[in-house]
Amino acid sequence: MNKELRHFIDTNDFTKEELMEIIHLSMKIKECIKAGYYPPLLKNKSLGMIFQQVSTRTRVSFETAMEQLGGHAEYFGPGMMQLGGHETIEDTARVLSQLLDIVMARVISHDSIVALAKYSTIPVLNGMSDYNHPTQVIADVITIMENLPQGKKLEDCKVVYCGDATQTGFSVGSICTKLGMDFAFFGPKSHQYNEHHISVLNANAAVSGSKWIMTEDPDEAMAGADFVYGDVWVGLYENELPYEDRMAIFHPKYQINKELLAKGNLGVKVLHALPANRGEEITDEVIDSNLSICWQEAGNRLTAMRGLLVYFTRYRKEPSEAKKAAAREELEIFMREHDLVD
Ligand code: CP
Repeated sequence: MNKELRHFIDTNDFTKEELMEIIHLSMKIKECIKAGYYPPLLKNKSLGMIFQQVSTRTRVSFETAMEQLGGHAEYFGPGMMQLGGHETIEDTARVLSQLLDIVMARVISHDSIVALAKYSTIPVLNGMSDYNHPTQVIADVITIMENLPQGKKLEDCKVVYCGDATQTGFSVGSICTKLGMDFAFFGPKSHQYNEHHISVLNANAAVSGSKWIMTEDPDEAMAGADFVYGDVWVGLYENELPYEDRMAIFHPKYQINKELLAKGNLGVKVLHALPANRGEEITDEVIDSNLSICWQEAGNRLTAMRGLLVYFTRYRKEPSEAKKAAAREELEIFMREHDLVD
């Protein structure tokens, strides 16, 4: 278990064993809650949630996770929080470290989350940047583990990511190669991984034994596929391309549709980070079919956030019961002496 202050900025900062510990912890807490036991593992803990961009799943899952485990979350939406404006990120980090137990941020530029972590003395979790989306892929692996093909373990599976190398696309490739799954990036040459992405995935694969490819050939990509993963084409927010341009580059070849799925293993399952542009990167027919596990995946954002929040707040040793009792007694004496008791 995590015994030191660490930040969750990139899954590539963690070993396979550490990531699997977070995943198993998340799944164990999910079992408890399903059984009606809400472990108070975040009691008295406060999470700050900084969003420079809008969010549905990330915001709701972090906030609900804190509430369910006995903690509290404070939301700072776009424009509500200084992050490199009138106050430097370094100073904001120092201030938040005095006021909160843990902080998450969805940032426009990855440099912002790196700076926030560098100057924070509390854990910082990356709720998505222009570089990667690490909390998303913890939920994705949990969903894959809940839907393993019969007789297969995680390392036996192949994941195919379709479309372009978005921040989610990079994080999917990162975690698949880190955990030893086989992986294919299926997208047009103009929107495939860059040299940095490739070097990260190669380094992961050299350790884990994962085999991965990048291809424009649907047959090569889909051969032996157990899971197909989609995301919006050319990002959201600042990077968004006009509809006509997106369609000209990707449609119909890189769309997740019935014809593409027929090239994978029988019963191939479909993941999508959501939100989806239905009719673009994925058809209604597929996203609404029984092969789609993207709603379960969205639910597992909450599963993952619970595990991540517990894992990263565990580095501090709780004071002993004797120390707590002594503090309480001293406060009660003070209150009586100053006539502050009812
Ligand atoms: N997948 C994802 O991060 O969703 P939100 O943008 O709604 O948080």
